[in-house]
Amino acid sequence: MRNVPVSLGNRSYEIKVGNDLLSRLGAECARLKLGQRCAIITDSNVGKHFASATLKSLSAAGFEPILITVPAGEKSKRIAVVEKCFDQLAKHRAERKSFIVALGGGVVGDLAGFVAATYLRGIPFVQVPTTLLAQVDSSVGGKTGVNLRAGKNLVGAFYQPKLVLCDLDTFKTLPKREFISGLAEVIKYGIIFDAKLFAQLERDLSKNLKRDPKTLSQIITRCCEIKADVVSQDETETGLRAILNFGHTVGHAIENSFGYGKFLHGEAISIGQVAAAKLSQQILGLPVNEVERIEKLFAQAGLPTRIKLNSIQRKKLFAAMKLDKKVSAGEIKFVLAEKIGQVVWGQKVPQALIEEVLATGAHR
Ligand code: NAD
Ligand code: GLY
Repeated sequence: MRNVPVSLGNRSYEIKVGNDLLSRLGAECARLKLGQRCAIITDSNVGKHFASATLKSLSAAGFEPILITVPAGEKSKRIAVVEKCFDQLAKHRAERKSFIVALGGGVVGDLAGFVAATYLRGIPFVQVPTTLLAQVDSSVGGKTGVNLRAGKNLVGAFYQPKLVLCDLDTFKTLPKREFISGLAEVIKYGIIFDAKLFAQLERDLSKNLKRDPKTLSQIITRCCEIKADVVSQDETETGLRAILNFGHTVGHAIENSFGYGKFLHGEAISIGQVAAAKLSQQILGLPVNEVERIEKLFAQAGLPTRIKLNSIQRKKLFAAMKLDKKVSAGEIKFVLAEKIGQVVWGQKVPQALIEEVLATGAHR
């Protein structure tokens, strides 16, 4: 098992990466002296595979868990579902000392984290991420929240978990498309922070696609270390943390304007990161061969890198982009790459250039 500390003063916690960690969940919660009552929030797919092992582990350690199951999918990240979770917690008399276990992918993590942040003005929670995307990104760093019709993640709170338990065995049931979607966030860490990681991903792509446990454990740990480093320097995104949004301005707009579910998060940000790389070439002089390496790695991982838009789709996409949280005073700001492994944030990009890049390939 590997440990990654997230250093945030009295809100510090550990990320644990390894096999068979679900069975240790109860003991870990007891070690952290979390309250006796707890609620597992999961979704209908994940619950089928892992709810009973989670209930067993918590019960064996002396906790009294209840199970709250929400429908699988992005549509559960909304206020109406938050309210249903509150009602269940109140019905079972969850109190300030009770805690929540978020068992699932990023949807469950964001939803359950937001419920934990707001129920009784905040109760502790533990993240047990079960998708690659959630293990390397969404379960770490305390961004919680839900979507509005107007846009993704528009309501939320920064609220840190007490522990993140990344059990690699949960990938045994994860569908291929979901696993590949997670690779988009893994590749992101190489582009924004670590050229060596990017080169390793190019080299070891087939091992990763085969879900080789040793390679995955090392790569997930490295991604978590990068995220922990960034978050501990800038927890509430006043500056540096924005680099984690590389490719997300276009990506979120794709998810929103096509309707949640058509593109998975990782697929949308794969297109977004390739667009950001092409914009980086135009604005910051990112070398053409690096733009090509970036597009090639996403494509070889099995992710989409381009999108065809008709005029109605284009209009919708730009309307969604202007609602993004990263827009200030109506200006769309981007994270752009100077080279693989190094990015800058807050870069103003004219709409015409974004349109051009989405319509074309890399410029020589
Ligand atoms: P998800 O939570 O919808 O999970 C994907 C699908 O896989 C779902 O159908 C789920 O039921 C199923 N699933 C999950 N684990 C499984 C397993 N082990 N076996 C079988 N099926 C399993 O999607 P996701 O990609 O994990 O997360 C996407 C969400 O994360 C988006 O809402 C995105 O906005 C959010 N996100 C948040 C942050 C953050 O910092 N908070 C960062 C990145 C993404
Ligand atoms: N996934 C972006 C962040 O955590 O800031």
